Amino acid sequence: MSNLAVVGTQWGDEGKGKIIDLLSEKADIIARYQGGNNAGHTVRVEDEEFVFHLIPSGILHPGKKCLIGNGVVIDLKSLLGEISYLKGKGVEFKDNFLIAENAHLTMPYHKILDKIIDESRGKGKLGTTGRGIGTTYIDKSARVGIRVADLLDEETFREKLEINLEEKNYLLEKFYNLEKVNRESILEEYLSYGRQIENYVCNVSLYLNRALDEGKKVLFEGAQGALLDIDFGTYPYVTSSNPIAGAASTGLGIGPTKIEEVLGVVKAYTTRVGEGPFPTQFSSEFEEGMRMRGREYGATTGRPRRCGWFDAVLVRHAVRVNGLDSLAVTKLDVLDELEKVKICVGYRYEGELLEEFPSLLKAVRNCQPVYEEMEGWKEDTSQIRDYDKLPLKAKEYLQRITELVHADVSLISVGPGRKQTIVLKNLMQ
Ligand code: IMP
Repeated sequence: MSNLAVVGTQWGDEGKGKIIDLLSEKADIIARYQGGNNAGHTVRVEDEEFVFHLIPSGILHPGKKCLIGNGVVIDLKSLLGEISYLKGKGVEFKDNFLIAENAHLTMPYHKILDKIIDESRGKGKLGTTGRGIGTTYIDKSARVGIRVADLLDEETFREKLEINLEEKNYLLEKFYNLEKVNRESILEEYLSYGRQIENYVCNVSLYLNRALDEGKKVLFEGAQGALLDIDFGTYPYVTSSNPIAGAASTGLGIGPTKIEEVLGVVKAYTTRVGEGPFPTQFSSEFEEGMRMRGREYGATTGRPRRCGWFDAVLVRHAVRVNGLDSLAVTKLDVLDELEKVKICVGYRYEGELLEEFPSLLKAVRNCQPVYEEMEGWKEDTSQIRDYDKLPLKAKEYLQRITELVHADVSLISVGPGRKQTIVLKNLMQ
């Protein structure tokens, strides 16, 4: 199985960055298929840290091709900033980086509207990243979006921008009492961005299909996680794309048969940023300690992440909707000092025991998690490289997780460094 999708199985921030970085070595191509610069992950190489938002972290590996597919929404200001940040750290951008000509662009008004729409929800706000992700996907679905290819044709870009600004400026000024955005300055700014990205733009679907025909190995990179999926997540507290593996097909223009294997990245506990129900969230005092231990602050917005126990109901749902073959368990070491560890095995709701993740948000919000409690292992696992050397209680914890979620573990991460990894199964062989 040489083509592998790597996806998040919780609410994002599972540590996909490190796993993708590790597996990139085995791939010829790393292709991102959804989301935008709402994503953020940090990759540590030796003592140096690299923060990524839009560009696949595979770019750190010389000789690999990194692709941004049509399913991704692109904020060009942010993308160009990321390119220059990475170039500044010695990363090369030549023919190793490609952008889909049919990907949609996040425009300045998308960011303003995302923030004001979320603010105006008051207590019902979603806590979006404010990056204009939802508003860009709205325009894509409304069939008024501006795509990369449109930007490269000045006449088309002018026309489309004009049509969009008529509506957006009306909304900004008349509905939200905000200042209008300026057509001329957007035109000038974006035409300049167009010139800067022109050489990277291509028909990514065609490129990828040809590469697959030649037997190249592809790593499909998911952003966010299954519980943030617009269809299968905790709607409406979700993002506006489908982070699940199936979206790699529509987000890159390849047939679903090309995704041969799916790896789910799962944290050894649970975290969530932004609003929305979280059944296994810790009490605030305990949460603060875990947040410090796990350095649980968002890579994109710096917001503190909410933390909680491992939720097997939620991960089993993610295993199913992704068709996961195996799991990469991350941050096991963060639990090292705990006396007891708990796993949520069901939800009690209105007198019933729910064993599968409910679609009704009210049920997720009001349910009582049912826990199994296990002894903690109270040993440092961060230097362990061999599964057999893990403390017995840590192995029992992992074993119980695999039984409950119906997926085997293929990788275990015990720290941020590339080497702090225990490999149980060789992927992308
Ligand atoms: P949006 O994607 O900016 O619209 O935000 C919608 C929800 O998804 C918010 O709760 C965000 O905090 C969350 N979210 C979006 N991207 C990520 C991510 O990469 N990691 C974790 N949460 C995310």
